[in-house]
Amino acid sequence: MKMCDNMKTEILTDSADGIARAGELLRSGSLVAIPTETVYGLAANALSSQAVSSIFAAKGRPQDNPLIVHISDISELAALVTDIPENALTLAEAFWPGPLTMIMKRSGIVAPEVSCGLDTVAVRMPSHKTAAAIIKSAGVPLSAPSANLSGKPSPTTARHVLDDMDGRIAAVLDGGECSVGVESTVISLCSETPRLLRPGAVTPEMIESCIGHIDIDPAVTDRLQNGAVAASPGMKYKHYAPKAEVWLVRGSLDSFAGLCRDEKSGGVMALCFDGEGGRLGVPFVEYGGANDPLSQCRGLFSALRTLDELGAVKVFARCPEQDGAGLAVYNRLARAAAFRIIDLR
Ligand code: TXA
Ligand code: MG
Repeated sequence: MKMCDNMKTEILTDSADGIARAGELLRSGSLVAIPTETVYGLAANALSSQAVSSIFAAKGRPQDNPLIVHISDISELAALVTDIPENALTLAEAFWPGPLTMIMKRSGIVAPEVSCGLDTVAVRMPSHKTAAAIIKSAGVPLSAPSANLSGKPSPTTARHVLDDMDGRIAAVLDGGECSVGVESTVISLCSETPRLLRPGAVTPEMIESCIGHIDIDPAVTDRLQNGAVAASPGMKYKHYAPKAEVWLVRGSLDSFAGLCRDEKSGGVMALCFDGEGGRLGVPFVEYGGANDPLSQCRGLFSALRTLDELGAVKVFARCPEQDGAGLAVYNRLARAAAFRIIDLR
């Protein structure tokens, strides 16, 4: 598809009219950015090759990075997959609607471009009321990646979407700030043992309490080794990155403050926990409570975008814990830092 960069992007309100207009645009094959509880998604009719292809063009997304299909009711699942594994029903019962994506064997109904040649499809039922209403209004399942330019932090407000996508998509529906703030947990149910491919607000502990032991893909916490095949193609790309060079710093607040002071003349900025900034002696952005990983999830992407707006060149970031929802924060921040880590412990 030829990329049209001077389209007028409509801003729709979170109302019956806005939802109806979003549904109409989606049915006609256009791209609409929609709010979900995780991040804003760039939605298109998942049954239309033309509509799905235009997502890749608008985002500059690599052609081998598959998309998640969004449904509004569990009854819509059966048509998308060859069969529904037992574990999927158990997890759907526990976490749908909500921030969990499950990968299953795909049927022929979804446009092949959604799965990028894989024989699987990722499916999620969002809990955001407006997202569900838009899917219903469109009358088709919607494929939707995060509504950012490829490589940028995911958008958690309509403003973030417009910063990246204004003129490139038909519309954005402004549903306010996303309540979770990081993308959904992605789990594959296609292997013998279920495998976590991307951590999110539905934690490994929560999943294991329902279906027993799961494997955690090594790419969740570590850089993919050269030549390794990514279980989730999205994991091999540079991600969530602001323009600045980000360094993830492990250690106490005191040692972090010392590092900031030492590097002050180099134009360093800090990405730190709430209430810490005043102690650092460098410009800072706070991204959540030190012991509150859910608040870190909510604040992280917005904080990364703010650092860009402040013109940050080099950023030292306080490292989150790696358990519970902290694993989701660590996963995004390690990628934003391209796995540059300073250990002061
Ligand atoms: O919370 C979310 O999941 C958001 C909202 C909009 O729902 N969407 C989202 O989509 O984060 P996206 O495209 O940014 O991330 C989808 C991830 C990618 O890492 C992709 O590689 C992986 O899911 N994925 C999708 N289909 C897959 C499949 N069939 N097999 C393996 N990984 C898959
Ligand atoms: Mg994304």
